[in-house]
Amino acid sequence: MNFNLTEEHIMIRDAARNFAQTELLPGVIERDNKQEFPNAQIKKMGELGFLGMMVDPKYGGSGLDTISYLLAMEEISKIDASASVVMSVNNSLVCWGLEHYASEDLKQKYLTKLARGTALGAFCLSEPEAGSDATSQKTTAIEHDEYYLLNGTKNWITNGGTADFYIVIAQTHLDKKHKGINGFIIEKGWEGFDVGPKEDKLGIRGSDTHSLLFNDVKIPKENRIGEDGFGFKFAMKTLAGGRIGIACQALGIASGAYELALKYSKQRKTFGTEICNHQAIAFKLADMATQIEAARYLCLKAAWDKDNKKDYTISGAMAKLYASQVAMDTTVEAVQIHGGNGFVKDYHVERLMRDAKITQIYEGTSEIQKIVISRSIIDAE
Ligand code: CAA
Repeated sequence: MNFNLTEEHIMIRDAARNFAQTELLPGVIERDNKQEFPNAQIKKMGELGFLGMMVDPKYGGSGLDTISYLLAMEEISKIDASASVVMSVNNSLVCWGLEHYASEDLKQKYLTKLARGTALGAFCLSEPEAGSDATSQKTTAIEHDEYYLLNGTKNWITNGGTADFYIVIAQTHLDKKHKGINGFIIEKGWEGFDVGPKEDKLGIRGSDTHSLLFNDVKIPKENRIGEDGFGFKFAMKTLAGGRIGIACQALGIASGAYELALKYSKQRKTFGTEICNHQAIAFKLADMATQIEAARYLCLKAAWDKDNKKDYTISGAMAKLYASQVAMDTTVEAVQIHGGNGFVKDYHVERLMRDAKITQIYEGTSEIQKIVISRSIIDAE
């Protein structure tokens, strides 16, 4: 077993750290306050290859492994989880799904732009009545001679207002339940496709979350992804990798909060000494560091499974379940260590605490991860 990162991994981690410090940190508080999408920063992330990290260079990607993606996600998430969710969705849900299951024509038309970051993607599965219960899709795409006709509503769509291309999951055969679902790629601006108002969120406020409304949108037949009826498995397979991305986001939020708390505890004095010298604080730091290290190994294991073509459904679900809990616990403690200063925006930790919560909700709640993990344990017996 080798715990060392390669020179290339260290270079990518340092590049992401440098980008986060120089490009994302200035303005992160203001963007959170104003719910402002980090447009210029996301454009630069595309130029640096962070939006199509694992895509084959022949489709415009960086051709890197999942460990590299993990390291970059952690560094970006330490500073700006709103930017890292954009990165996660584009890499894990949109580019990965297209590269593995779309036709060559669709890859040439869409993936090449998404991987280079000249276009942004969104993944549209959730609906008002189909969040956790993803087989209960009400959005329909009914087949006609030359197109599918798309009708319905999607909810909580990350990059909903800013994306150029959208992967949409819809019911095509009403009587076939999850075997009658398909995935399509559609474009912003198509007739009948409207973007609803932006959600006013607790956290990741710089990211752009909307409902999407489809009213008789005509989808060319060639824009279906994969074989007829493959849509639910396509969504599940794609989400299995997406969960590794969100686990790494949670890891980054946790380690970002921990680093701030450690630094603060070495500067802030009470009762005649730096507060890190009080066991009440030192023990908190020890717990945080230990939990973060454990979360990091679960994330690395899931990334390693994916890179080595092993099944990563369970390791990804475990990484997300644990890292998101660590993100929540660690950020709460980081606010506590900062005392009153932790409760105001200038010190960053209150934002990280608000951002942490979504990692227990999106791309499958913690309860969904437990369903995935427990079913595999029970089925294995
Ligand atoms: N890989 C391949 N196939 C899979 C799979 C996987 N990981 N998981 C399930 N399947 C297949 C099953 O094998 C089964 O196929 P067969 O019928 O051929 O046997 C089929 O899919 C149905 O599976 P289940 O019977 O297990 O389905 P279920 O209704 O019991 O639900 C679930 C399973 C795990 C709860 C699933 O519904 C789920 O993951 N729900 C959560 C959805 C989710 O994560 N939503 C997040 C939205 S995206 C988002 O948040 C993005 C963003 O913007 C940030």
